[in-house]
Amino acid sequence: MDHLDRVKEEFTRQADTFAVHAVKADEKVESRFQGAIGDAGKGVLLDVACGPGVVTAALAKNAARITAFDATPAMLEKARARCEEAGLVNVEFREGDAQAMPFADATFDGIVTRLAIHHFAEPAKVMSEMYRVLKPGGRAVIVDVIVSDNAEEAALQNAIEIIRDPSHIRMLPEAELFGGIKDAGFTIQDISGWDKDREFEEWCGIANDPQRIGPLRTIARTLAKDGRHAGFGLSVNDQDELVFFHRWRLIVADKPAA
Ligand SMILES: C[S@@+](CC[C@H](N)C(=O)[O-])C[C@H]1O[C@@H](n2cnc3c(N)ncnc32)[C@H](O)[C@@H]1O
Repeated sequence: MDHLDRVKEEFTRQADTFAVHAVKADEKVESRFQGAIGDAGKGVLLDVACGPGVVTAALAKNAARITAFDATPAMLEKARARCEEAGLVNVEFREGDAQAMPFADATFDGIVTRLAIHHFAEPAKVMSEMYRVLKPGGRAVIVDVIVSDNAEEAALQNAIEIIRDPSHIRMLPEAELFGGIKDAGFTIQDISGWDKDREFEEWCGIANDPQRIGPLRTIARTLAKDGRHAGFGLSVNDQDELVFFHRWRLIVADKPAA
């Protein structure tokens, strides 16, 4: 199956569960993105792979206009419903592939993307598309979860993630993520990060496919009981629950002025 078709299939099935999760994923989403985007946030913005529009809605409050862009129509519908409910009238919804965006060069003052890089078959293409459609002097805010610098741990975490959701391609170790942003032409201005505690059953529930979760639970529990934390804290807590953390990175990156 073509990877983009897989993305659409996964995120159509996950639309309801992910829309709820996207709000809980980061309770500081609005202050975090507003702070990171800075003055560019008052201009014309793009949210790449917007999903159910949590980041879009947070930024629309101060933006002149914002385009919510995603490959999955069901996600765009969630984003539209969220923005309508919030009374936001400056949001445009566009369907398409982030690897070949339907926007002219130098269209946007600011571009954001959250929790999506690891779903792209060719993340370098998306980075260079983001660079192309950003105005010189514009700002990008790129947020994603990363894996351990240890290659074996990273491979194990990515394998677990892919069994849960095959639209997941690869979470990157931080040096590779930062390197990809620089290779696209951006100048990195700031990097911050935090760990988000996760509970395995809740995380698997979002994938909304019980059939694949049974075998994954067996594998993950066995690894955890053997002390194989896979670089993301995979372990069984005192209540016999399987837990782990997701390690987030937020990168503020500018396109040099012309
Ligand atoms: C994990 S969700 C994140 C959604 C949102 N950014 C958030 O943080 O709540 C990933 C989103 O990326 C979208 N996506 C994945 N690959 C894409 C591509 N090549 N082009 C556009 N959207 C894509 C999916 O449809 C899905 O809505």
